[in-house]
Amino acid sequence: MPVKVDMDKIVSLCKRRGFIFPSSEIYGGLASCWDYGPVGVELKRNVKETWWKAIVQDRDDVVGLDTSIMMHPGVWAASGHIDNFTDPLVECKSCHLRWRADAVEGKKCPQCGGELTEPRMFNLMFKTLMGPVEEEASIVYLRPETAQGIFVNFENVVTTSRKKLPLGIAQIGKSFRNEITPGNFIFRTREFEHMEVEYFVKPGTDEKWLDYWIKERFEWYVKLGIRKENLRLRQHGKDELAHYAKDCYDVEYLFPMGWSELEGIANRGDFDLTQHAKYSGKELSYRDAEAGEKYVPYVIEPSAGVDRSVLAFLVDAYDEEEVEGEKRTVLHLHHSLAPIKVAVLPLSRNEKLTPLAKEVFKQLCPNFMTDYDDSQSIGRRYRRQDEIGTPFCVTIDFESLEDKQVTIRERDSLAQIRVPIGELKKVIEAKLKGEAFDASSLWATRRM
Ligand code: GAP
Repeated sequence: MPVKVDMDKIVSLCKRRGFIFPSSEIYGGLASCWDYGPVGVELKRNVKETWWKAIVQDRDDVVGLDTSIMMHPGVWAASGHIDNFTDPLVECKSCHLRWRADAVEGKKCPQCGGELTEPRMFNLMFKTLMGPVEEEASIVYLRPETAQGIFVNFENVVTTSRKKLPLGIAQIGKSFRNEITPGNFIFRTREFEHMEVEYFVKPGTDEKWLDYWIKERFEWYVKLGIRKENLRLRQHGKDELAHYAKDCYDVEYLFPMGWSELEGIANRGDFDLTQHAKYSGKELSYRDAEAGEKYVPYVIEPSAGVDRSVLAFLVDAYDEEEVEGEKRTVLHLHHSLAPIKVAVLPLSRNEKLTPLAKEVFKQLCPNFMTDYDDSQSIGRRYRRQDEIGTPFCVTIDFESLEDKQVTIRERDSLAQIRVPIGELKKVIEAKLKGEAFDASSLWATRRM
């Protein structure tokens, strides 16, 4: 049974091994902003790439898009974000800390016990000024969701892609929200990345498609290794639905702080296209030539956070085990998510081993994200690779110089196989695709 991990351990592992650092750390950091380090950026890229593959590449009914972060301010008036994207905020009259009103029980400040103000609505969109003139007319917003870039391009995409409905448009990109209470590491931040699909369907088929996407998205996490018992679905109550939503389900994950939203899958009805048609004066409907119909499509929206997914994958993969009397921390990350797929580790920095080890590295690195490490003891290097979730370590020893074979060690079972260097790429490719790591079948087994 894997250990239950607390957030401090995840934060510390992320810092220690180069996944995630506090932003601007040498200046004391900036609240709720984080930087992805060398292995973190690989993990994050892999999350986005697996999502893109499942949503866009493997399907013929979804196309991709990449729209600008700053958009015409009319977009946010039409979408309802200027009027409705707000949280109720209270401020302590003594220490002046601000809280989300719905996160505070009673009328006292949770920090100092001081008296709180009456709630007022606080808009979560970041504002900035575009161009050199500082005036009201230059105000633009940093997008709080990527979705609106999709809605305003609906006509462009339908026309150029020559696709019929149902049609999905997918986008990955940064979003910004001036959250009143960010926190829990990368769970809630003011700058984060969204992975969103707007799936346009014929009205009347929307409920069927909502069910479909709920199942599809739930399974995506399971396929990538998240344990089913740590996932659940929760339907929004009428009082918590966003201003645009007819219905919404959250995929929740059992994070260290408890069950929390990982992804939202909403039925946005025809709210957005209708609003943009009204505010822009452009017709945004779909003409089905075959059926001789014209309608404003309904939209099903699976909306996930990249950073929140990264956190869930890290938490779920984390384990502490006892191996031969020693504690080992290991990330059992799915192969497709692991930042480094294979590490090349010469037994020592001996000058006889280095040329062969470098040759092996050169053979592997164009094919897989490969790490080369020859510092410290082999045991410590294995521990580092286990902690960053590397599925395979290749060790070059003195026998390798003679027999031109190397040892592959598998992260989860710790089994080892001996493989001819000429076969290495092929073997690792097969193992990464899920071929069993059978220490007996191919070549002789040997424990290091
Ligand atoms: N377009 C719909 C939309 O944005 P949302 O439920 O507000 O819906 C979707 O956000 C997902 O985006 C969330 O489930 C979460 O994974 C991620 N997300 C939202 N706000 C976030 C924040 N402040 N920090 C990190 N991730 C966030």
